[in-house]
Amino acid sequence: MLGRLNHVAIAVKDAVSAAKIYGSAFQAEISDAVPLPEHGVITVFVTLPNTKIEFIQPLGEASPIAKFLDRNADGGIHHVCYEVPDIIAARDTLIKEGARVLGDGQPKIGAHGKPVLFLHPKDFSGALVEIEQS
Ligand code: CO
Repeated sequence: MLGRLNHVAIAVKDAVSAAKIYGSAFQAEISDAVPLPEHGVITVFVTLPNTKIEFIQPLGEASPIAKFLDRNADGGIHHVCYEVPDIIAARDTLIKEGARVLGDGQPKIGAHGKPVLFLHPKDFSGALVEIEQS
């Protein structure tokens, strides 16, 4: 059920400035900033031929990435996102296999207008994993 690597997310204090470096130094294609209030982040995407880099910055006081940035003031890799063909089937299999799904377990709509879920980093070698329906 594990599909393509959709993106690698890097948490920063200023997503637009962070992405600009990719736009100039790597001549990469960068998106406009998209606020995702339900996720507590603003996102800017850098498009690569085989995947994307997602820069995320905190939005609002209860942003889930605020603590991460307290610990990593210069920014850092925050999560990886894998595509799955059926997010509900994937979730149910993951839970059966002992993985913990964060939040209430119900998919939310992510940056690409598709349902996403996050999985506990302790169950995946210390890396926060996002799954997105492909
Ligand atoms: Co993401």
